Amino acid sequence: MPPERRKEYVAQTPNISSPDGRVGLLLPGLGAVATTVVAGVEAVRQGLAEPVGSLSQMNTIRLGKRTEGRAPLIRDLVSIARLDQLVFGAWDPIPDNAYESAVNAGVLDRHQHLDPIRDFLSSVEPMSAVFDTAYVKRLDGPNRKQAGNKMELAEALREDIRRFKADHDCARVVMIWCGSTEIFQRAGPAHADIEAFEQAMYNNDPAIAPSMVYAYAAILEGVPYANGAPNLSADVPALEALALERGVPIAGKDFKTGQTLMKTILAPGLKARMIGVNGWFSTNILGNRDGAVLDDPESFKTKEESKLGVLDYILQPEMYPQLYGDIYHKVRINYYPPRGDDKEGWDNLDIFGWLGYPMQIKVDFLCRDSILAAPIVLDLALFLDLAGRAGLGGIQEWLSFYFKSPHVPEGLYPEHDLFIQHWKLKNTLRWLAGEEQITHLGREYYE
Ligand SMILES: NC(=O)c1ccc[n+]([C@@H]2O[C@H](COP(=O)([O-])OP(=O)(O)OC[C@H]3O[C@@H](n4cnc5c(N)ncnc54)[C@H](O)[C@@H]3O)[C@@H](O)[C@H]2O)c1
Repeated sequence: MPPERRKEYVAQTPNISSPDGRVGLLLPGLGAVATTVVAGVEAVRQGLAEPVGSLSQMNTIRLGKRTEGRAPLIRDLVSIARLDQLVFGAWDPIPDNAYESAVNAGVLDRHQHLDPIRDFLSSVEPMSAVFDTAYVKRLDGPNRKQAGNKMELAEALREDIRRFKADHDCARVVMIWCGSTEIFQRAGPAHADIEAFEQAMYNNDPAIAPSMVYAYAAILEGVPYANGAPNLSADVPALEALALERGVPIAGKDFKTGQTLMKTILAPGLKARMIGVNGWFSTNILGNRDGAVLDDPESFKTKEESKLGVLDYILQPEMYPQLYGDIYHKVRINYYPPRGDDKEGWDNLDIFGWLGYPMQIKVDFLCRDSILAAPIVLDLALFLDLAGRAGLGGIQEWLSFYFKSPHVPEGLYPEHDLFIQHWKLKNTLRWLAGEEQITHLGREYYE
């Protein structure tokens, strides 16, 4: 964009339509993450808990000069939907309702957080899924759609979306993929443009994974779509172009939780101080259904690619060969059933300082992945709905704060530094609200 056009663009704040009405949050995949969001939102609505970790609910945003003392909650600055407007729906090949699935996932305490809202959770029953064990090899379930080809499957999903919207009297719907990680795929000719993509759907081409069928159906129904797993899904030229053409927001990929969250907190700090890194070894154990799926080498490869990219982009070894040119980066995920969802992630960092003297950092993060993921899903749902009402179609890079592997257009490298992502998110919210950007220059305080 030429500089003059850029200035005009920055100056224009989009018109945002009313946030009123019920908002359907449709979740392909009703497993650990999805049920933790659904149960958590209901617990917050009932005043049983706080929405910890959610920027949309808890974070303030500074406006104007520091001397003005203006720092409203984000939800008071921009017109996002309220929690009591949310209604939940899901698809899953496993027919368990949200109560049964949450008990099985073992993330939330059954007596404290699930039984008090059992009726509500039991009412969220998964619709039949577009599912194929060729893409997720370590699980199976009977609750799936049958059709002649992938285009018919997409039609069936579109019908589900329309029915859900009508049955629950929703003004708008958003969709967030909380399904399992699919096998590794690269974008190919079938994803190059929408004609090739649709033809491939009719031909039942293996290049079209189930998560792409959901993304396609969502975009055609005008439903903003985000992908919480690392598989391609909407991250292909055909769907990017379709989303832009239809004015539908899309975002991805792979919720930034656990070890990668830590990595994107620590690495920018080391780089800011120009501290060298020789090696970063990350290993973790987890025993939930996601861990079982990732035990399959083809699904793990998808996850590994998503996790490995982070350091290269943050540390920029090509610009700092003396500090990061020779870094050995390794990521391991080990399926270990006794731990369930309570993962443990170890990081060993071999770093060096002044004159090359070596030091080490050890991180032992006893984290709960779905507890970290749930507020991300909530924020994405509310911000994607906002983006849709503001007419922002296509890739929403300002939401890269929430992702391990941010979806960016061809030719643009992804920004992984959590603090830059946070700044970008808040500046976009300021822009949407017609407020000035914060530059942190601050010379005026001294004039
Ligand atoms: N837990 C986290 O913090 C975290 C972080 C980043 C990414 N993720 C990703 O989010 C996804 C969900 O994680 P989880 O811990 O809830 O896993 P999970 O295994 O508990 O739940 C995934 C659910 O998706 C269902 N599913 C699989 N394919 C489907 C399809 N085609 N349509 C509908 N449903 C389908 C499965 O049956 C399962 O119930 C995974 O891909 C995971 O890698 C999770």
